Parts: sequence; C-alpha cells; structure tokens
Amino acid sequence: MRKLSFFILLFGLVLSLCPALRADEGMWLPSLIEQGHIKDMRAKGFRLKAQDLYAVNRASLKDAIVRFGSGCTGELISDQGLLITNHHCGYGQIQQHSSVEHDYLTDGFAAMNRDEELPNPGLTVSFLVEMRDVTDSILKGVTNTMDETERQQIVEANKKEVVGSATEGNHYRASVEALYYGNQYFLFVYEVFEDVRLVFAPPSAVGKFGGDTDNWMWPRHTGDFSIFRVYASPDNKPAPYSPDNVPYVPKKSFTISLKGIRPGDFTFVYGFPGRTYQYLHSEAVRYIQEKSDPHKVRLRTLRLEVMNRAQAADPAVRIQYAAKNANVSNAWKKWQGEMKGLKRLGTVAKKQAFERRFEAWAADKPEYAGVTERLARLYDSLEPYAFARDYHTEAVLAIELFRFAGTFAGVEEWTPEAIEQVRKRSAAFFKDYVPAIDRETARRLLEEYERHVPESFRPQGGKIDVGAIFDSTLLVDSVRVGRLLAEGDTAAVRRIVDSDAAVRAFRAFTAVYKTRIEPAYKELNGQIDRLYRTYMRGMMEMPGAGKAFYPDANSTLRIAYGKVEGYRPVDAVVYEPVSTLEGVMEKDNPEIYDYNVPARLRRLYETKDYGRWAVNGTVPVAFIATNHTTGGNSGSPVLNGRGELIGVNFDRCWEGTMSDLEYDPEVCRNIALDIRYALFLIDRVGGAGYLLDEMKFAE
Ligand code: ARG
Ligand code: ASP
Repeated sequence: MRKLSFFILLFGLVLSLCPALRADEGMWLPSLIEQGHIKDMRAKGFRLKAQDLYAVNRASLKDAIVRFGSGCTGELISDQGLLITNHHCGYGQIQQHSSVEHDYLTDGFAAMNRDEELPNPGLTVSFLVEMRDVTDSILKGVTNTMDETERQQIVEANKKEVVGSATEGNHYRASVEALYYGNQYFLFVYEVFEDVRLVFAPPSAVGKFGGDTDNWMWPRHTGDFSIFRVYASPDNKPAPYSPDNVPYVPKKSFTISLKGIRPGDFTFVYGFPGRTYQYLHSEAVRYIQEKSDPHKVRLRTLRLEVMNRAQAADPAVRIQYAAKNANVSNAWKKWQGEMKGLKRLGTVAKKQAFERRFEAWAADKPEYAGVTERLARLYDSLEPYAFARDYHTEAVLAIELFRFAGTFAGVEEWTPEAIEQVRKRSAAFFKDYVPAIDRETARRLLEEYERHVPESFRPQGGKIDVGAIFDSTLLVDSVRVGRLLAEGDTAAVRRIVDSDAAVRAFRAFTAVYKTRIEPAYKELNGQIDRLYRTYMRGMMEMPGAGKAFYPDANSTLRIAYGKVEGYRPVDAVVYEPVSTLEGVMEKDNPEIYDYNVPARLRRLYETKDYGRWAVNGTVPVAFIATNHTTGGNSGSPVLNGRGELIGVNFDRCWEGTMSDLEYDPEVCRNIALDIRYALFLIDRVGGAGYLLDEMKFAE
C-alpha cells in the first residue's frame, strides 16, 4: 500500500515535469498511430485497427476526409461525393450566392436536384493520398556545423526534389512540411478537386444560431453545418468545373451512427488542425498574454463597434458585412479566452520553471546549455518589431481601402491582363464595401496606431489625415474605378493610380514596414527558429520529459482522441456535455436576429413532430468532448469507437481556448454538432430528406 502510493506520487511528479503530456492532449500523425497510440486508443474504447484509420494501399478512413478550402475540414458522407462541413466554413460561398432577393444566409438553401447545386469557383477540397517521413532525404548534405543560410538552401533543394518525384507522372500535389521545428520532415501528397458545389445550407438562424454571442461558448445550440458535393471528370479524376462533370465516387465515405452518445463515450476527431504552439518559450507566451492579445483585442473592439452599428441599421449592409464581421469577431473573442486561460493556468511561470530545469539538465551539454536564455534575449530584441508588426496587420491592413489600394499598388506593369485582373478584384470588393464604415474604422484605428506605435516605425510626415485620403481617393467610388479600368488606357491608369491618395498612403505604410519592421523581425525570428530546433531536440532527449511528444499542428492531417465529458467553467457551475432542442427554444427570441428560431422549427417544436429523430422527447443538438483541437479542425468528423460519424466538430469552449499554447484537461473541450441534429434539419426543416437516401446509417 505504502509502496504503491509512493509510486503514484512519483509517477504524478514525472507527468507534471513534462512540457507536454496531459490526459487527452495531443494531435497525432495518422501514419504513426500504428507504432504509437493505437494501444492507448483501444484501451479507451477504439474498436478498429490502425490500418482502418490510415493505409496507403487500401481504402481507410483518411480517404473520406478532406481539407476544405484552405482553413477547414470536411468529410464524405455518401459514395456520390456528398460532403459535410460547417456552416461557418461554407459561409463565404453561401454569402457569395446570396442577395437581398435570394437571401440564402437568412433563408437557407436546398438544391432540389443535381442541376440546382451551385458551383463555387476557387473552392477546392484536398484528399490526402499519402504521408511519409522524408527526414533523411531532406537533411541529405546538411551538417551540424554548417551556417543557417547554407542549411536552408540545401533543405529547399532537397524539398524540391522530393516533391518533384512525388508528383512526377501523376496529377497529385505535394508538399514537405517541417515537424518539431525542422527536426523531422514529412511529405504529404494530395489529390485536389476543384468542382465543389453547394447542396444544402440551413438558415443562419440555425447554422449560426446564437451568432457571435454564443460563438466559442457552451452551452451551444448552433446547427453549424452545410452540405456540398464533390464533382469529378467522367473518369473520376479532379477536373475544373464543367456541366459534364459527375459526382465523385470516393474510396471511402463515413457510415453515420444513429445510436447517439453518452457521457464518457470514446470519441476521436480526424481532421486538419491549423497551428498550435505547445513548445513556446515563456517569453513568447508572456508577450502574447500581456501585450499582443490585449492590443489586438482592443483594435478589433473598435472595428466591431463600427460594423455592428452599421449592420443593425441596414439589412443590405448586414449581408454585405456578415462574413467580415464574423471573421473579426472570431479571433477577437478567442484571444480574450486565451489571455484568461493562460493567466489562470500560470503558463508563463510553469514554462519558466521548466526552462530552469532544462538548463540544469543541459549544464554539462554544450549543445543545449544556455538555449533558453538565448531565446529569452532574442525575444527581448524581437518585441518592439513584433509589436509594430501587430499594429501593421491589425490596424493599418484592417483598413479595407488600404488593402484594396494594395491591389493597385502591387501591379508592376499595367498590361491589359493586369487591368482585367484588377477589374475582377474591384467588382468583388465593391459588392461588399461601405465606404462610411471603412472611413470611420480607419479614423479610429489610425488614432490608436499613432498613440501606440513609436514614431520610428511610422511613415514620416506627422499625423495621417484620414478624411483627406477618403475625400480625394478614387478607390472608394465604384463607378469611377469601373470607368477607369474599362477604358483600358494603360498610361492613364498608371498616372492616376500613382497619384491616388490611398495608394500613396498604402505605399508609405508598406515602405516603413518593409524597411524598418519586417527585415529585423524576420532576421530575429530566423535565429529564434534555429534555437527552437535545438531546444526541441533537447526537450525530447531530456529524461522525464516522456516520449509522448507530438508535433505542433501545421494544417496536416491529425487524430485527436478523448471522451464525451462536461466541465466546470467557474466556481459552483457544472456543464453537462449534451445540449438539445429544448435549449434552442429557451434561447428563442424573434426580436434578436441571431436568436430568431425559424418559424418552421418553432412549429415542429410546438407539435413535437420529430418523427424518427426524437430522442427522449426532444432532439439532440450538440455535445462536447476532451479532444484536443484547434482552428482548422472545424468541419472535422467526430467519430465513435467504430469509426462511425457521430458529429461534426465546429468549435471549442471559451475557457479552454488557450489550448493552442497549453492544454488543460479540466476545461479544454471541443464542441461538435450532433449529426442527428443535421439529419433532422435536412429532413424535417429543410425538406431535403431525399439526401438521406444516399447515406449509410448504423442503427
Ligand atoms: N469559433 C469557431 C471557429 O473558430 C466558429 C467561428 C464562426 N462563427 C462565428 N460566429 N464567427 O472557427
Ligand atoms: N472554430 C474553429 C475552426 O473554424 C475550431 C476551433 O478553433 O476550435 O476551425
């Protein structure tokens, strides 16, 4: 007994020494599950084999998962190319097809047959064909003593060769990605489809129910999904949009579980997490928590105030600025949760303690000794540049006019083709542009910019006169811009563009950024990255650090697993892990746009007419689990132990949004839509029950 408790104590101690490992933490590489976490997964309730998750020469679950666009995940749910992702992932597309007359954002959209499915130029989905450790090939010719520039040249050349041979004689695309700060390299080969059509979207009052108020929050009642279809050439290969294309037949599609979930059930999330920073130095975390996040939050608060007011006053503006607002609001809220979470966990102090232990261990190892101190010094030098850079992106480039001016400023030669390109870009810009919003935003942002950014990082010439820029620029006037570009007089375009006030302002800001901020920022970051490579290797070598390291997310396919579980957000409050239609109706409020439950759903609720979707007299809506996820995991399949689809991931709980830097098993939860809510909505609210005929169910 005595001995045992001593052992447990010791074990607990070892765990707490780890820079990384906590229960359910981790985003694992699918191809390494077989040698790695399959045992633990099976012990916790996974019923399949590693080969069912990832295999190269036969179909596996990975073949049913796509990177959706550049920032989300989606999964195939029929053998006719039907795909489900989040409403917020298809939001840009749904908005693009919307106007005041066809307001698919408000009313939802359902294609009643294949001909009604809407093409989305520019949208792609990528299937992972294969992933492979190519460290040896990439580091061929690299030595420990070589300087960094030389190393980089060799690595780049080797990457080219590896990518070249992976894509030779086929239609695949490939990339080589660094893991563990360049201690390891993996090749990823993708098959990319470009004809992806919109099939179904619920009304925003469902798909974005609760709007930005409920965003990042539990309890949640958002039906955050949309349905697309992947099309291929008649021989089932990727092809640009064509009416002759046919639904893609995937190697694999998910079976949908109708059995439901219970607290404690094993689940896993299989998707494309974007970026995490688990191994960051304490100084970097301190900068994020104490400086970067607070400033960025304040700048975005200003932007949101202006947008919200204008959108509330005019329904056309509400649509025009819907996606922009959602974008700005999303990180704004996340950063607030992140700051709070880091503070509560004391991440900076914990990292400092770890760094001291690391240095003690490294004291007699010249390769590692002093690495964390050198990092601290570099971060100190970096801070002014990082701060100026934050303001460049969050204040200067947040001004829509400046970004638009950048399109003009970036044209080197005004050829007819260049004019045509800019004309297209202008059309898209003016469709959703309200100069009054931008002007007010610019005024307030630049005020902050002048207050906080030291003069040496600002364009010369004193105060920036926003009013004068907006009054004299051509670029806020769609008619005049249209006329200028239509006339196609290249000399005139160049002359007018070069003297335009917005273009000149943009050039002035860009010039300071490019000369006084970016070069130093890049140079210092290069040195920092180099040190991380050493630091990371040291952490992995250091005894007691455990072998359960996982590479930071980098938009490559990963598996995270955990269980359905509630949490305690604050003192005296316990959150249950499952939400239902009852909660949707509790929040129902016709007065508030984001909580105005569609009449049809309200009626179903009143008559309790749920048909086969009834569970204990209601309909399940969403659930939370301990899976470690991040941005990019949106739309990822949430699966049960049998690999059947039980939900679609769409968010994290606010109290746990620091999980990109430190995962806390107590409060870090991913939020998933219960797949049965999506089916109920398609069937009973959207009137597109015919789509269910394509799907496979496990009852
Ligand atoms: N928070 C989720 C994610 O980071 C959803 C964002 C979209 N929803 C919104 N209301 N802005 O992407
Ligand atoms: N909502 C995020 C996404 O779009 C997911 C997250 O950050 O947890 O990927």
